Amino acid sequence: MKGYAGPEELLRKKRRYLIPCVYHFYAAPLQLVRGEMQYLYDHAGRRYCDFFAGVAVVNCGHCHPAIVKAVCEQAATLQHTTTLYLTQPVIELAERLAAVAPGRLGKSFFCASGSEANEGAALLASLATGRSEFISLRYALHGRTKLAMSLTGLAMWRADASPVGGVSFAPSPYCYRCPLGSREGACDLACADAVETIIKTTTSGKVAAMFAEPVQGNGGIITPPAGYFQRVREILARYGALLVVDEVQTGFGRTGKMFGIEHYGVEPDVMTLAKALANGTPVGAFITTDELAATFTRPSASTLGGNPVTAAAALATLDVIAREELASRAAALGARLKAGLAALMARHPVIGDVRGLGLMLGAELVRPDKSPATHETDVVLEGLKDRGFLVGKNGLYRNVLAFQPPLVVGAGDIDALLAALDDVLGRL
Ligand SMILES: Cc1ncc(COP(=O)(O)O)c(C=O)c1O
Repeated sequence: MKGYAGPEELLRKKRRYLIPCVYHFYAAPLQLVRGEMQYLYDHAGRRYCDFFAGVAVVNCGHCHPAIVKAVCEQAATLQHTTTLYLTQPVIELAERLAAVAPGRLGKSFFCASGSEANEGAALLASLATGRSEFISLRYALHGRTKLAMSLTGLAMWRADASPVGGVSFAPSPYCYRCPLGSREGACDLACADAVETIIKTTTSGKVAAMFAEPVQGNGGIITPPAGYFQRVREILARYGALLVVDEVQTGFGRTGKMFGIEHYGVEPDVMTLAKALANGTPVGAFITTDELAATFTRPSASTLGGNPVTAAAALATLDVIAREELASRAAALGARLKAGLAALMARHPVIGDVRGLGLMLGAELVRPDKSPATHETDVVLEGLKDRGFLVGKNGLYRNVLAFQPPLVVGAGDIDALLAALDDVLGRL
């Protein structure tokens, strides 16, 4: 189509000008040029139903008119100053976050990405506790910066040859492949109890905080069993360690509630946010209690954190999530998609497990001996793309199909995706 370079030309230039650590899905990567709610369009005008949402970012849909309007108006009025001056959108955003965050979480710091949010949360935890050791989970992903990468429990995303010390990893609450060898539902949360063993055996006993995602996204939509976070919380409290919950991927209605941790009835000490907070405008934040916030008084500033355009986008995003009741929509449509995936699992043994919450669902593909069906996952991804559906993949062995569409996706889109998946699986 006239005006677009086309994927071949872009790939040629990419090889010439981009550092080669950035990879793309598909044997022939797509050039996407336009988005409209749950749909994306490529350079040739072909439409795709987006079941990945830019990795759980575009919860309100691509180019949602109310958010576009807010961004354009703010960009035309005051695009940027610095946090050294007062501006209104960021203060309003902090007030709105305090209203929707669980429990006593009410004071925010804004930055520009999820990695930075986790770095900031770790700094806050260190300042508040006077400690510097952390616990994280195997299969976690917390970001790309030095400490955030060191907190990451997936080798693929740990490019750093000299990660920081003082991070101990607890087993992932991965019931389908229980790291402790238990049968699903017959373990009394041994993986949660393992956190105490980790503290006793691999730390000084004085841990600043444990980081955890309510659902491990990149790890393969690993969904902790009921009661997991309550047990972990009790253990951490005994050792004076804080709980930092990384809601970068699970936040803002994705799981059927505003925040993923709400499914577990636990109030964290710190919550980190990014991705869907501004529906695609770069943003990051962490939010904490008054008492913990009071320990962070040394100057800190993020040049683009709380930028007026981003804050306006986030405010409009929160309006849309509330007005269009996107969290309950995610719960209802997620139930439909999950039931459909479960029905496919009954017919296609290559689906070994279906898991997740709301519209954050995963289907783990396996061979008859339960080994990861990595190649088959790629074949399915390609087949779905050819049929007009973009889904994600993740997991340690990249064998988990990830379904994380914009929360405005329709029931008809879900049924069409399930029919396409049935067809692709039938041809494997
Ligand atoms: C759970 C989680 N935390 C942190 C990050 C890092 O966020 P960012 O890429 O905005 O730095 C990601 C990115 O995928 C994530 O999924």
